[in-house]
Amino acid sequence: MLDDLLQIDQTRIFVNGAWIAASGGLISVHDPSSGKIIGQIGRGTTADVDAAVDAANRALDSDWARMTATQRGRILMRMADLVQARAEDLAMIETLDVGKPLNQSRRDSVALARYLEFYAGAADKLMGKTIPYQDGFTAFTLREPHGVCGIIIPWNYPMQILGRAAAAALATGNAVVLKPAEDASLSSLVFAAIAAEAGLPPGVLNVVTGLGSEVGAALAEHPRVHHLSFTGSVATGARIQAAAARNVIPVTLELGGKSPHIVFDDADLDQAMPVLVATCMQNAGQTCSAASRVLVQKDVYDTVKRRMVEIYRQLVVGRATDSHDLGPLVSPRQQRIVLDFIERGMRDLTLAAQGRMHPDAAPGGNYVLPTLFSEVPPDHPLAQQEIFGPVQVLIPFEDEAEALRIANGTDYGLVAGVWTTDGARQLRMARKLRCGQVFVNNYGAGGGIELPFGGVARSGHGREKGFEALYGFTQVKTVTLFHG
Ligand code: NAI
Ligand code: MG
Repeated sequence: MLDDLLQIDQTRIFVNGAWIAASGGLISVHDPSSGKIIGQIGRGTTADVDAAVDAANRALDSDWARMTATQRGRILMRMADLVQARAEDLAMIETLDVGKPLNQSRRDSVALARYLEFYAGAADKLMGKTIPYQDGFTAFTLREPHGVCGIIIPWNYPMQILGRAAAAALATGNAVVLKPAEDASLSSLVFAAIAAEAGLPPGVLNVVTGLGSEVGAALAEHPRVHHLSFTGSVATGARIQAAAARNVIPVTLELGGKSPHIVFDDADLDQAMPVLVATCMQNAGQTCSAASRVLVQKDVYDTVKRRMVEIYRQLVVGRATDSHDLGPLVSPRQQRIVLDFIERGMRDLTLAAQGRMHPDAAPGGNYVLPTLFSEVPPDHPLAQQEIFGPVQVLIPFEDEAEALRIANGTDYGLVAGVWTTDGARQLRMARKLRCGQVFVNNYGAGGGIELPFGGVARSGHGREKGFEALYGFTQVKTVTLFHG
């Protein structure tokens, strides 16, 4: 079934427009819903990364460099159409590889098509500036690609994250070497096939699968890579930044967070309630912008808690292909990390509610019950550390000042949700929250192709998505002419 969906030999890697065998052997692909092996991918090596980086550098001197921005945009638009045409296959591939409920994977294929479409349209709208300078001079800026972009993506939203990085990198004329996560590489391989079919010249996009410590590290350290874009853990991000520092190249890091919802006593609770829970439970909590903390003002705390408990009791975990509220986690390793957090919570905290396991959830799957803890002290590890699983903590607060202190009181700063009908307070909070994105009376965990996205502090730096990404994937050249 998987082979029919893929329509490629997934044991190969894509280098210089050709499907070649990875030189390090093979890695098994597991279905997180059952734990069963469903296929194999190539285990790339340093030599494979070298070949891909060479191909990408050569592509910078090929037809690709001579194409107009409009022509690049047309190729991206063809890729968008091909993704759209294969959206259902891509969704099923992602569901089998990542364990994501099928209805959520469908949104990811649509998002990938949207990223391609957005950057297709944006490609020829990125402009330099003319600068008022001294008499007798004309000065202007050009926006130029960095060259070869190394893109290292995680397993939680492969299609969305490769979409936001690769589409913006290609729209601006870079060449790309993409390294997907070992737990979720299949959609990246299909993406390569789609790029080739759409007419992207050989070497402009290369995909090397394999381990982080091998392919990822080799790509991050490569002296002929000119820009790095990484999404994943803080520890690995710090390593990538150190590698980038040695080669003195720019790096964009998106490292997750501990994002809060802040619910004031004047909030429209009917509007807020389903969003409070869903924005953590989507993808079983494995979302960089998961709203894993819910801060609630004292007067409405008991009501919000009661209503959240009701929602939690209805949540069902089961096989990803059946589109329950939650699927399994991506790997036994991730399951262990999250279960350890839950065990810690059971020892120290008040358990408010858990969801239910569907009877069809197969043994061997990496399932974890959605779990809500209440009255959680803001300095407890479950209120401070990224759990990356279906676990939320409820924290009461007294007033606006305390809400801000708690919200800003972690090492992270990615997203925040503010729920209040007081307009002045909406603006005050939006300005004072220390993070990259604030949602008022809504919350888009990962949503919004058009919206610049990224973090502060340990959540990383640099912005992807929206038009803003085009600045990150280019650098400015200033040209000054004297003409008298
Ligand atoms: P990770 O950060 O190690 O993996 C992300 C990507 O980096 C993968 O493609 C991996 O192969 C690659 N990688 C790993 N080591 C590398 C190295 N030395 N050099 C270059 N690339 C390397 O994350 P992991 O271990 O899969 O997950 C652990 C925790 O990280 C999660 O529990 C979660 O808290 C966080 N995480 C955050 C994500 C986000 O969206 N911000 C995504 C995935 C994980
Ligand atoms: Mg997998």
